Amino acid sequence: MIVLGLETSCDETAAAVVAEDKRVLADEILSQEAEHRPFGGIVPEVAARGHLDHLDRLITRALERARTPWKSLAAVAATGGPGLIGGVMVGVITAKAIASVRRIPFIAVNHLEGHALSARLIADVAFPYLLLLVSGGHCQLLIVEGVGRYVRLGTTVDDAAGEAFDKAAKLLGLSYPGGPAIERAAATGDPGRFDLPRPLIGKPGCDFSFSGLKAALARRVRELGALDPETVRDIAAAFQDRVALHLAERTRNAIAEFRTRHPSGDHLVVAGGVAANTEIRARLQRLADEHSLRLIAPPARLCTDNAAMIAWAGIERLRLGLADPLDFAARPRWPLDPRAPKAPGAGVKA
Ligand code: KG4
Ligand code: ZN
Repeated sequence: MIVLGLETSCDETAAAVVAEDKRVLADEILSQEAEHRPFGGIVPEVAARGHLDHLDRLITRALERARTPWKSLAAVAATGGPGLIGGVMVGVITAKAIASVRRIPFIAVNHLEGHALSARLIADVAFPYLLLLVSGGHCQLLIVEGVGRYVRLGTTVDDAAGEAFDKAAKLLGLSYPGGPAIERAAATGDPGRFDLPRPLIGKPGCDFSFSGLKAALARRVRELGALDPETVRDIAAAFQDRVALHLAERTRNAIAEFRTRHPSGDHLVVAGGVAANTEIRARLQRLADEHSLRLIAPPARLCTDNAAMIAWAGIERLRLGLADPLDFAARPRWPLDPRAPKAPGAGVKA
């Protein structure tokens, strides 16, 4: 079974061809980073236009690289949400057109499910497992019980982890996207020089909050005035250290909950763009070792937005006979666990 996957929910236009035996036959990604950089963030209209301009060409290239003729495709999967709606619609409409012309199933994939199942594309990870999903738009702890079956243990009450990185980078005068820029600066910085808060340290629960840390950082930057490069590196290192600590400590609480519900569960998975961060991975590895859990952190290319994970989620769904009708409507919001209570505080993240 070979599936074409499309991803257009944020600022990456991507098309991939993946086989059921886990071979990624093609994985094409076009980042719009350069287009959005002058704005210091993603502009939805610019993103939608970019997807429209490039998606067809990427699909053709992916099929060529995969040496897969159209007639060999078993299905086409596209991100159906959550995300920037203009972009999601571009991918969904394209996939529907392919499905109807080629007479193959169309699968609308929840972008978050794409991230959640990506670990199963690179390793033998059985359900249930504990997932820390950390990206530019999301910051959640979930138990993945099966395809389409998620229990959310925690979410952010304010910013997502990647969003916090992006805002911190802006304050420090570093480039967009902020996560990689902070990681580079932090590599030679001293995390102990600046005293930034440790969010929710010692508190029970699995929700996240970054606003206190962000406010403290903004205050510090204001007090310091002009920042010399060494100071930027030290602040970046302190910020990254506190974020990594926060993610690990909330995950520690989630492990206790996971173990209560599933005593034999033995995997901790981290996914999403922020999971590309080496310091965060190292901290999670220590935590996993402490609890005799196996940590699965997909390679950076599979952590940041990509279409291979969408094609793979399509394969997982198709195997269960789950396809979608052609009147599926793109969804700006699409929580993985619709029963989960809204996050305390103002957060309305999916
Ligand atoms: O998953 P992703 O590619 O897109 C979303 O679905 O949001 O995540 C993008 C986010 C951005 O906020 C970016 O700053 C962050 O992931 N990110 C990182 C790193 N690489 C990307 N954050 C920390 N360290 C990194 N190395
Ligand atoms: Zn994502």
